[in-house]
Amino acid sequence: MTLALQRRPIRSFVLRQGRFSPAQRLAYDSLLPRYGVAYSSEPVDLNAIFGRPNPKILEVGSGMGETTAAIAAAHPEHDFLAVEVHAPGIGGLLRRVEKLGLDNIRVVRHDAVDVVEHMIAPGTLAGAHVFFPDPWPKKRHHKRRLLRPAFVRALAERLASGGYIHAATDWKDYAAQILAALRAEPLLINTAADYAPRPAYRPTTNFERRGLARGHGVWDVIFRRR
Ligand SMILES: C[S@@+](CC[C@H](N)C(=O)[O-])C[C@H]1O[C@@H](n2cnc3c(N)ncnc32)[C@H](O)[C@@H]1O
Repeated sequence: MTLALQRRPIRSFVLRQGRFSPAQRLAYDSLLPRYGVAYSSEPVDLNAIFGRPNPKILEVGSGMGETTAAIAAAHPEHDFLAVEVHAPGIGGLLRRVEKLGLDNIRVVRHDAVDVVEHMIAPGTLAGAHVFFPDPWPKKRHHKRRLLRPAFVRALAERLASGGYIHAATDWKDYAAQILAALRAEPLLINTAADYAPRPAYRPTTNFERRGLARGHGVWDVIFRRR
């Protein structure tokens, strides 16, 4: 076995080819040159990328972009760096960016673990959102869950003092795991006794509404950097 194979990290996603709708394809091809940011293995100047010094929020795994676009539209005073590996999802986000005329979103198509570790300078984020990370429900896949201690530490280090990490999941055992991982991180302090009430800035998605209607729970976890 070669060294490269031995070192291959456990990813929190499996890259499937994924099907674009024609509209997603069009948005991806025509808008990525404007809103996309190339992955960099060195810290980047986010103020230069957005062309202003406003607070920066990282959106980890923005999916189809429904939530990211809604939050960015409601908060024009903040800048949002969306990180997603799934190209059709990025196409979906970019469609919304154009439709809503947003200029406070940029997108990186890359593994968020690398982006956080290499591309974001320590102490620079006002917040980080990790909404509905892939649950990997089978026990043998739990190692793929994104919000494990090493990633929590890396995220916490990228926050400015007072900056926040906000995670949400509809998987009860993952929620407990997230709460435990954030509690164990000395840089962070919980904003609530345990789970936090959903803040008004996080809109409920269709997916979440359907789950709630069926009696499924959703847990928000919000910690701040000391
Ligand atoms: C279940 S979806 C949730 C999407 C969105 N946050 C929402 O609330 O609707 C999880 C997303 O995270 C993305 N993802 C998983 N691991 C990732 C990683 N390491 N880097 C970037 N994106 C990732 C997946 O491609 C998927 O689109």
